[in-house]
Amino acid sequence: MRDGFLLDPEVVYLNHGGYGACPATVFDEYQRWQRELERQPTDFFARRLSTWFWEGRAGPSLLDHARASLAAFVGARAEDLVFVPNATSGLNAVLRSLRIRPEEEILTTKHEYGAVERTLSFIRANVVHCEPEDLIANIGIRTRAIVVSHITSPTALVLPVEEICAAARRAGVLSIVDGAHAPGQIPLDLDAVGADVYAGNCHKWLCAPKGSGFLWARPEHQPWIEPLVISWGYHEEADFGERHGWQGTNDPAAYLAVPQAIEMHATFDLDAAAALADEAERRLSALRLTTVSGMPAPFMRAVQLPPGDPFALWRRLIAEHRIEVPVYERDGQRILRVSIGPYSDESDLDRLVDALRSLLR
Ligand SMILES: Cc1ncc(COP(=O)(O)O)c(C=O)c1O
Repeated sequence: MRDGFLLDPEVVYLNHGGYGACPATVFDEYQRWQRELERQPTDFFARRLSTWFWEGRAGPSLLDHARASLAAFVGARAEDLVFVPNATSGLNAVLRSLRIRPEEEILTTKHEYGAVERTLSFIRANVVHCEPEDLIANIGIRTRAIVVSHITSPTALVLPVEEICAAARRAGVLSIVDGAHAPGQIPLDLDAVGADVYAGNCHKWLCAPKGSGFLWARPEHQPWIEPLVISWGYHEEADFGERHGWQGTNDPAAYLAVPQAIEMHATFDLDAAAALADEAERRLSALRLTTVSGMPAPFMRAVQLPPGDPFALWRRLIAEHRIEVPVYERDGQRILRVSIGPYSDESDLDRLVDALRSLLR
């Protein structure tokens, strides 16, 4: 499986959760779209890519096809989902459209992704942080929205978003789910999740090319979510797809390669990857490194390290051992997060355990 990816064979790559990794066949498809675009850019953008510019076009456009394929994969209707470059862009569009008022609060967890926290600061929201299990009890009259990760980045936990979204709905509170790590890591049925708004990435666990994310919203929430960039797609009659779909001339090849990534993903042995993640946890616990408590993500584990400089350890792991695995500080704790990609195997764990045994001595 490793040969099917473009990763440097010299590096033990245990940071799939960071940026994903794209199989060669999917990357070829991505580049094929880029070349096809360059053969006749006007035909590509004006007539083939979408239905927005060429009224007489017959049949589904290239984007329609890619959207339909992704929508089926995540359990949604294609018209409720738009491609965006990444989860950050999708969440920015939503949070910046909220126009939060000073008397309102946003309720979130202590496990959210740093860039989302910065976006919440940018919109000057009053943010209430709590542990995931306390979210529902903390919904109050000032709560305008809940922002919650489906799978947390710093702690690699799956959160019970269905329960949280149902409680938010009962309280009349908006639920915004950051699903950056979900597509391809856990089966998704967006209708069943029950969120009002959901943003995800295809370039992480679905192994699509970089720059392929999506934003999904229930029909009643689509009108207030403004695109980050106003362009030709922004007009009175435009639907959700058109308003967000055309934000100036951009390279759509990553979006168009998503159907191929979905096909490729179906060939991965996901049970083996999950078993290897469990094995990683066992072997790290034998070094007395315990996993952050909660429901672990299928292919990721965050373990607590003894106190020390996270950056120095991260640097030594790559410089001295050729192991790419993130080490960071969270809440005064030094954490190492292991990701198991479809290409990972036991020898990667052997190398990690040997390196940690020597570096943590
Ligand atoms: C929980 C979470 N949200 C959002 C993001 C942002 O993803 P991107 O940089 O692809 O927008 C990440 C990235 O790791 C993440 O882990």
